[in-house]
Amino acid sequence: MKRIIGILFLLAVAISSPAQSYFEDGLSSEWHSQRRDELRKLMSPNSVAVFFNNPVKNRTNDVDYVYHPNTDFFYLTGFREPNAALVIFSEEREVNGKMADELMFLQNRDPRAEMWNGKRLGVEGMMSELGFENAMLNSEFAAKSGINLDDFDKILTFSLSDAIEESSTNMPLIQMMEEFKAATAYPDKLDEVSAQVYKMIKNSDLETSDRVVQSLKRLQRQYPDLMEDPLVSSFMNAESPEKRMVVKEEMPDQKLDLSALGEMMAVLREIKTPEEIVLLKKAVKISAVGQVEVMKAAKIGMTEREIQGVHEFIYKRYGAEELGYPSIVGGGNNGCILHYIENDKRDLTDRLLLMDLGAEWRGYTADVTRTIPISGKFNAEEKAIYELVYQAQEAGIALSKPGATFQEIDAAGRKIINDGLAELGIIKKGESHMYFPHGTSHHLGLDVHDPGTRKPLDVGMVFTIEPGIYIPEGSNCDKKWWGIAVRIEDDILITESGAVNLSADAPRTVTAIEEMMRQPSVLEEWVLPEID
Ligand code: GLY
Ligand code: MN
Ligand code: MN
Repeated sequence: MKRIIGILFLLAVAISSPAQSYFEDGLSSEWHSQRRDELRKLMSPNSVAVFFNNPVKNRTNDVDYVYHPNTDFFYLTGFREPNAALVIFSEEREVNGKMADELMFLQNRDPRAEMWNGKRLGVEGMMSELGFENAMLNSEFAAKSGINLDDFDKILTFSLSDAIEESSTNMPLIQMMEEFKAATAYPDKLDEVSAQVYKMIKNSDLETSDRVVQSLKRLQRQYPDLMEDPLVSSFMNAESPEKRMVVKEEMPDQKLDLSALGEMMAVLREIKTPEEIVLLKKAVKISAVGQVEVMKAAKIGMTEREIQGVHEFIYKRYGAEELGYPSIVGGGNNGCILHYIENDKRDLTDRLLLMDLGAEWRGYTADVTRTIPISGKFNAEEKAIYELVYQAQEAGIALSKPGATFQEIDAAGRKIINDGLAELGIIKKGESHMYFPHGTSHHLGLDVHDPGTRKPLDVGMVFTIEPGIYIPEGSNCDKKWWGIAVRIEDDILITESGAVNLSADAPRTVTAIEEMMRQPSVLEEWVLPEID
């Protein structure tokens, strides 16, 4: 009897226990809280920042796409549930009779919903697990958010999409957004260009106003109606910087700012803290193992899908929760499609295979590309193109130290590729071409294309170096080059002493790749039954 009571007690505890934090080995609630403090430091006095988590996207009937939180929202909270809003004040203020510098609104716990879709943290869990002192139900947003337009000098948010699916699942989010819009004189039809132009003018000074006029002239080509606004045309036609400043003073102050918050988040997110670097390293290491194991396993006759499966199985085997982006596995000419995700080519033949994949580990994603010859050996043309891309990448890695810029890294690699293509007779010297149609670098973090300010490299930045050459069938060059596509992509961390290649475990040179492809694969022994 005693034992039965004991078991019943344990069961009761299990059923009523608060939700577990999502990732026991991820970022701590203290880390997220400290990030909110850092954001507060960037906010102007007496301002408020309002974030909404992502809506749920329906696939069909009662099946939704896998939910992924908005990455800014996750960065600041660690919270991964929909129908949530975060309100951050630049300074502590009295809200509902109590001092607060932030409020969190979230969905209620609901045993029925949780039975179908999994545990919710709930208000109490939000306080105990994620450390929010002021957590409330999303139904209280209008009444308790403390948002009164008159109280703040600035209201910071992002442009709020009108395109959220009006499903019952998303209703609490839509409701909060509507309440927010009503409280902030949010424009009915968002004129983002005008808002941007007003902001550029407001931020200009005697020194920068010439440059602002040049930017406005460029914008005017795209949006000819711009000059119909008398303030904008007076600013642009003013005879001197001094006169422009007079016009500037006449511009109305815009309380609602839809761009500053994005810029602040970019400032925070482009420099990774040591805690984030630990997670990024793990995501990248796992992805490098995927490349290594595929190098051993790949052979003629396999399918793109099968190769994708090997990578993704390895990610799951290590416990990565997600992919950072849809996997790209392109054999032969398919490698020329930069974001090729069909991955449905069967019977890979004796061509190159371009594989661009990244595991997501506790929210952080890798982005690693390797290009290998399915046969295990590069032919002469493939090798010539591969070597060019490799040298371009090496030049970029060599430049990667504090103070260098993405532009310099890109230019160094592009020169090597342009000169090399001319030398191989694929282009004429100086000819413009489309064989390297993308940029060389982007920041990496919670998003595969993480936000950044494009400022020079600094300690704590993590970014890709990923030159490529793609020569699609039918290109204006000798046929022997057709269908060759090479991208080599590594994830680089900037430290005090220079660059660390986080994806170096995956072989990168022609010799090292061919050597790895000679190694036996455990998959050889894994024979599945034939199915008709
Ligand atoms: N995987 C997308 C990219 O390399 O940017
Ligand atoms: Mn990339
Ligand atoms: Mn990539």
